[in-house]
Amino acid sequence: MSESVVIEREGSLLTLRVDRPEKKNALTLAMYERLAVAFERADEDSSIRAVLLTGGNECFTSGNDIADFLEQPLSGLDNPVFRFMRGLFNCSKPVIAAVAGPAVGIGTTLLLHCDFVYVSRDARLKMPFVNLGLCPEFGSSLILPRLIGHAKASELLLLGESFSGEQAAAWGLATASVDSGQAALDKAREVAARLDNLAVDAVRISKQLMRAPEREALLKVIQHEGELFAERLRSPEAIAALSGFISKR
Ligand code: COA
Repeated sequence: MSESVVIEREGSLLTLRVDRPEKKNALTLAMYERLAVAFERADEDSSIRAVLLTGGNECFTSGNDIADFLEQPLSGLDNPVFRFMRGLFNCSKPVIAAVAGPAVGIGTTLLLHCDFVYVSRDARLKMPFVNLGLCPEFGSSLILPRLIGHAKASELLLLGESFSGEQAAAWGLATASVDSGQAALDKAREVAARLDNLAVDAVRISKQLMRAPEREALLKVIQHEGELFAERLRSPEAIAALSGFISKR
């Protein structure tokens, strides 16, 4: 299963490509673990200057593997999902996302922690946590209302409404929307090349400064959301909704 995340090194750029097209790039625990370790190593390796996260040019990710949620519901904060969140959250190098097609659940919330997000105009983003009997995760209950206002965030987080890549860029969830998944990847690589020519410490310090004011509050929220999310996963509503998705297949 770990082959479902392809890790490639090209000069100073580390590319992490989720590659499980038959399941719309749904993330299993093994895939989270591989991504987590890659982020941790990228942070330590001084020869890596940026990380590109993508699902290729057709699908970003359909979020957490729903069968995994049922078979191995998260317990505590010491598991691959939270390790992945910590790895991305703590990454001191710029993280660039190239997004196309569906970006569901964590596929949308993780974007809130990337530094540059290029998305195809027709990408479909969605956070259907409440629809699945769950609750927001990865700091989205704090970041999203601040970014787009409480009223709009309520549509996305309470109703789980989907929105386009174009809309994501208009709201500031993405850096820019582009014509296709390939264009998003091209733009991400172009930005990585520009970063490669900048002073590495100046980039690192600037990212740290931009993130610092929210850091402690966000860590607390991520932990609190994580505890509630793990609890919700065991609720009858969530079990019914998740089992419903599986049994429809
Ligand atoms: N977990 C496990 N399997 C998933 C999955 C997920 N999150 N998302 C998709 N799949 C599987 C489907 O079960 C199907 O498998 P099968 O061919 O063995 O039946 C395959 O991927 C293709 O999915 P399908 O729904 O037919 O593709 P689509 O293009 O019509 O729709 C999505 C794509 C992403 C919109 C849709 O699959 C979806 O809504 N997935 C669930 C997303 C979700 O709720 N994630 C959890 C958030 S917390």
